Amino acid sequence: MTILSSTAMRKIFSLLVIHLLLLISSFIFPVKSSNNETDLYALLSFKSSIHGDPKGELFSWNHSLHHCLWKGVVCGRRHPDRVTALDLDSLQLSGYISPSLTNLTFLQRLSLSNNYLTGSIPEELGRLSRLKFLNLSVNSLNGEIPSTIGNCSNLEVLFIRNNRIQGTIPSQLSQCRDLSLLNLGANFIIGEIPPEIGSLNKLVKLSFDNNNLTGSIPPSLGNLTNLSVLTIRHNSLTGTIPASLGQLQHLVNLLLNFNNLSGEIPNSIYNISSLLLLSLPGNQLEGTLPSNMCDAFSNLWDLYLYNNQLKGSIPSSISNCSVLAYIELHYNSFTGIIPSTIGSLKNLHLLEMSVNQLEAKKPSDWSFIEALVNCTSLEVLNLGSNQLQGILPSSVVNHSSTLFHLGLFMNEISGSIPAEIGGLTSLGDLELYQTNLGGTIPLDIGKLLNLRWVDLSENMMSGEIPSTLGNLTSLNVLILDSNSFEGRIPLELSNMQALEYLNFSSNKLSGAIPKEIMIRTSFAIAIDLSNNYLNSTIPPEIGKLINVGKIVLSNNRLSGGIPSTIDGCQVLEGLYLDRNLLQGTIPTSMGNLKGLKELDLSNNSLSGQIPEFIDKMNLTYLNISYNDFNGKVPKEGVFNNASEIDIRGNPKLCGGVPQMHLPNCALNSSAQRHHSRTIYYCSIASAFLSLSIIICLLLTYYQIRKSQNHPRSVTALKSQYDDVSYNDLLRATDNFSLDNLIGRGAFGAVYKAIMLLENATKIVAVKVLNLEQNSASRSFLSECKALKSIRHRNLIKVLSVCSSIDHQGNDFKALIFEFMPNGSLEAWLHPNSVSTNQPMRFLSLIENKHSN
Ligand SMILES: *[C@@H]1O[C@H](CO)[C@@H](O)[C@H](O)[C@H]1NC(C)=O
Ligand SMILES: *[C@@H]1O[C@H](CO)[C@@H](O)[C@H](O)[C@H]1NC(C)=O
Ligand SMILES: *[C@@H]1O[C@H](CO)[C@@H](O)[C@H](O)[C@H]1NC(C)=O
Ligand SMILES: *[C@@H]1O[C@H](CO)[C@@H](O)[C@H](O)[C@H]1NC(C)=O
Ligand SMILES: *[C@@H]1O[C@H](CO)[C@@H](O)[C@H](O)[C@H]1NC(C)=O
Ligand SMILES: *[C@@H]1O[C@H](CO)[C@@H](O)[C@H](O)[C@H]1NC(C)=O
Ligand SMILES: *[C@@H]1O[C@H](CO)[C@@H](O)[C@H](O)[C@H]1NC(C)=O
Ligand SMILES: *[C@@H]1O[C@H](CO)[C@@H](O)[C@H](O)[C@H]1NC(C)=O
Ligand SMILES: *[C@@H]1O[C@H](CO)[C@@H](O)[C@H](O)[C@H]1NC(C)=O
Ligand SMILES: *[C@@H]1O[C@H](CO)[C@@H](O)[C@H](O)[C@H]1NC(C)=O
Ligand SMILES: *[C@@H]1O[C@H](CO)[C@@H](O)[C@H](O)[C@H]1NC(C)=O
Ligand SMILES: *[C@@H]1O[C@H](CO)[C@@H](O)[C@H](O)[C@H]1NC(C)=O
Repeated sequence: MTILSSTAMRKIFSLLVIHLLLLISSFIFPVKSSNNETDLYALLSFKSSIHGDPKGELFSWNHSLHHCLWKGVVCGRRHPDRVTALDLDSLQLSGYISPSLTNLTFLQRLSLSNNYLTGSIPEELGRLSRLKFLNLSVNSLNGEIPSTIGNCSNLEVLFIRNNRIQGTIPSQLSQCRDLSLLNLGANFIIGEIPPEIGSLNKLVKLSFDNNNLTGSIPPSLGNLTNLSVLTIRHNSLTGTIPASLGQLQHLVNLLLNFNNLSGEIPNSIYNISSLLLLSLPGNQLEGTLPSNMCDAFSNLWDLYLYNNQLKGSIPSSISNCSVLAYIELHYNSFTGIIPSTIGSLKNLHLLEMSVNQLEAKKPSDWSFIEALVNCTSLEVLNLGSNQLQGILPSSVVNHSSTLFHLGLFMNEISGSIPAEIGGLTSLGDLELYQTNLGGTIPLDIGKLLNLRWVDLSENMMSGEIPSTLGNLTSLNVLILDSNSFEGRIPLELSNMQALEYLNFSSNKLSGAIPKEIMIRTSFAIAIDLSNNYLNSTIPPEIGKLINVGKIVLSNNRLSGGIPSTIDGCQVLEGLYLDRNLLQGTIPTSMGNLKGLKELDLSNNSLSGQIPEFIDKMNLTYLNISYNDFNGKVPKEGVFNNASEIDIRGNPKLCGGVPQMHLPNCALNSSAQRHHSRTIYYCSIASAFLSLSIIICLLLTYYQIRKSQNHPRSVTALKSQYDDVSYNDLLRATDNFSLDNLIGRGAFGAVYKAIMLLENATKIVAVKVLNLEQNSASRSFLSECKALKSIRHRNLIKVLSVCSSIDHQGNDFKALIFEFMPNGSLEAWLHPNSVSTNQPMRFLSLIENKHSN
């Protein structure tokens, strides 16, 4: 026994040694020991289909090295020549996926994500029966998902997100019984979700985000008992949310944002006690929130139900969802009062319930404000556009020092801003426009050093604009229009060095336009002081506004001339000086305003000739009516289009294109007599014409008035930009992964992403702004508003805006731009290196100045 066994032992030992030697030699003399070259040739064939490898990552793929030692190649232990894994992620490879990979019959893992691969997914991959892991995400693959994928019966992970895959989801996918992670997001996949997916009972995460899936959610998905993440955002799903989803007792995240789902939220959903995130915004969901909705939600952290048609009251039992931190119920039809029990949500960071019909009729209905004082983490409180009436409780200032967004706009709030507002030391946004607030701006506002955005417009506030506002050196936007503020514009405002948008229009301000404001706020993008009683001259320092896109000084009592320094405003697009007492001529320097599009000098006492250069400017609107201009009207440029120009009320003008019906300039008297009859008829015709022009103008005026009257018409703003949430961006950029990072600029990082925006899947650049911790947030509405009112020549087309809170509770802001080819992107990231020294101020409007 012992001898035998020792012989056996010896044999085993020697076998082991031989194997070990073989193994070692296979590493030292790899090429010699290789006698099965199938995989070698398959790999070489794969390499030959990669025609772009800028970093030379496949350099090692040559005959001097055994193919198992090539970069990204992993071979098996039992079959040393056979490739078991190919990991070539994020290597900037371009080309296509060679079908030769099908010869790597031992392949278990194929990861080619985040490259520039094009072409289709070879259907031959279906023959890789050992394949467990397939990641082709973030490429430019097109064609359909091959139905042979169902032959990969061992597949556990299938990631094809962020490609250009078309066609439908093959039902054969349901043959991949071991699938646990399935992500087909951000493609162009159409059709219905095959109900067979419901049989993949090992699925843990399922994402079909950002496709164009139609039909309804198959109830069979309720059979995916191990599912923890179900996300089908931004598709065209219809029908109701199947009640069977309530069976998913391990579900942590349910996201069905922005589909066309209708009907009520099934009660079974409220039974999923594992849920951390319930996100159903942007659908047509109806019905009410049940009063016991929080009975099972002991873990719910985020509740996003905005942009739906939900109604009824906010159940006071919402306090039973005891860890709720983010509540977004805006754009619904909720009624009733805001329950004060909300104050027991100790974890509450954000309460966004704007644009509903929530009520406060009697003082006790406001008790939620008092109760919220207990929410010591509250950062955002937005109740704008509801039916809150009555006096703003002064306890609003007792809110935790964390509150940085306070939005109560578009309510019927009366009373005044509490004098103790200075207690809200973290406040960044104060949005109180279109309320009935009266009183003055408290001096204490100057203590709110974090303020970035103040909008008190369209109220009944009066008194002087406090000089303490000048202490707000971080303030970007100050909108005080349409109130009854009086007195002078305080010189101290010139300390607001971060100011980019100033609107004091339609008040009763008098005195001078302080030149200091022009000097110090040199980067302002738009200044509107119209409709006041300002009675100084226009200070020559106006030329210091080198970034200003729009200056509106209409309807004041400004006198003197137009300063010739105006050409310092290099990027000026709109100049409105109408309805003042201006005299003198149009300065020739104005010809240097290359970007000027709209110029209104009407209703002044300007004189002289219309300068030659005006017809060479690219104006789209010129109004010089009711002045005292004389001489010849040019015929070119803006003068050639009667609808873009108004020259009425200048009796000494002559010439111009015939449609203007002005007298000819150099006619001698006999010729004039000769044509007197013609002129007679002409003048009758022109009388009719001017009448119709006046009617036209009146109509246009009312049209404009109408559109200006609802500048914040929330629905209009809503439709202007698709709502993009933090989660959408998180997903589209794969958690802001370095792989998607395309650059860093002074103001933030830029990621590439593919998203569904404006009803099309687009490659976009997402600029995530560096925001200081604790920095102020501006509401989505406000940003849109500013973007609307501050259009700028250098602006790259903004597709969308995201203003939100990240999952750490930090303020999060991103701008989503059209993706631009390398050259201009570079310029955009590093504005200082732009050869034209036109600064890109616009980008910094939402960007934090303090980061540079
Ligand atoms: C290599 O191995 C594969 C599978 O083991 C086999 O089918 C093939 O014939 C082998 N090729 C050579 C050249 O030995
Ligand atoms: C082959 O790859 C090795 C390892 O990267 C490298 O040192 C060698 O220069 C390459 N040879 C050729 C011919 O490209
Ligand atoms: C697989 O390998 C065989 C033998 O080397 C070859 O004839 C065939 O073309 C290969 N298949 C693909 C799809 O490249
Ligand atoms: C697939 O690739 C993407 C892009 O590189 C990566 O973000 C993701 O984590 C990968 N998926 C898995 C399951 O590893
Ligand atoms: C692969 O799948 C297709 C259709 O899904 C099937 O017709 C074919 O027989 C399968 N091939 C293998 C090798 O399993
Ligand atoms: C579900 O998950 C549990 C725990 O991870 C596991 O034991 C079980 O096998 C899974 N069920 C299925 C159908 O895969
Ligand atoms: C769930 O699976 C069971 C079998 O496991 C099946 O009978 C039932 O029809 C499935 N439910 C749905 C809704 O598909
Ligand atoms: C707020 O907290 C205080 C002290 O913990 C408590 O007395 C009060 O009832 C709380 N108010 C609300 C509305 O929860
Ligand atoms: C705020 O401004 C006022 C007047 O401009 C000034 O007197 C005061 O010292 C400033 N306060 C702070 C805290 O800077
Ligand atoms: C401007 O108006 C104020 C009164 O509002 C007056 O005191 C001042 O003299 C006026 N200035 C000019 C230049 O007319
Ligand atoms: C007007 O626009 C044209 C074409 O857009 C451009 O070439 C020209 O330079 C512009 N003129 C001025 C004065 O900016
Ligand atoms: C999505 O599909 C629907 C119905 O097929 C179609 O009307 C719509 O245009 C598609 N949308 C996109 C963005 O492709």
